[in-house]
Amino acid sequence: MEPQVYFSHSAEETARLAARLAETLRGGEVIAFFGGMGMGKTTFTRGLVKALGAGDVVSSPTFALVNEYVGRLTVEHFDMYRVGSWDDLYSTGFFDYLDTDSVLVIEWSENIENALPENVIRVEFQNGGQDCERKIVISGWKGRL
Ligand SMILES: Nc1ncnc2c1ncn2[C@@H]1O[C@H](COP(=O)(O)OP(=O)(O)OP(=O)(O)O)[C@@H](O)[C@H]1O
Ligand SMILES: [Mg+2]
Repeated sequence: MEPQVYFSHSAEETARLAARLAETLRGGEVIAFFGGMGMGKTTFTRGLVKALGAGDVVSSPTFALVNEYVGRLTVEHFDMYRVGSWDDLYSTGFFDYLDTDSVLVIEWSENIENALPENVIRVEFQNGGQDCERKIVISGWKGRL
């Protein structure tokens, strides 16, 4: 499975890409974001959640650690920014949600890399040349956008 490479030039374009990915989800997928602060992880999640008819994502759940959105599928939106140990990770409920039909969407997956399942969909953000440009590399995903 070759990684798929996309270029986005605006927040809207990133949200649209996420919406197309959302249409292919059946439940139980784990989507792990990689890439630094302000790269568009929450923007991507917003597009995905909206496309599933699950409402509006306002922000990263940095303090709550996880937010739930219910639509065509249920989305658990994690922010692992402050997760620094296995104990922290257990307390987010991550392992319980892994065994459900929910779609898990994970910001700051760098912090839980060793806990990610084998069949994870990786979405990596890199800065493009311009201010609003993002290179988005999706791997481990069987579909095509
Ligand atoms: N091509 C793009 N894709 C996504 N966001 C973009 C793009 N160009 C500019 N932006 C802006 O970058 C910011 C991305 O913020 P967002 O909260 O989605 O990032 P994040 O990766 O979740 O950050 P954090 O790590 O702080 O949670 C927004 O202000 C958005 O408008
Ligand atoms: Mg965020």
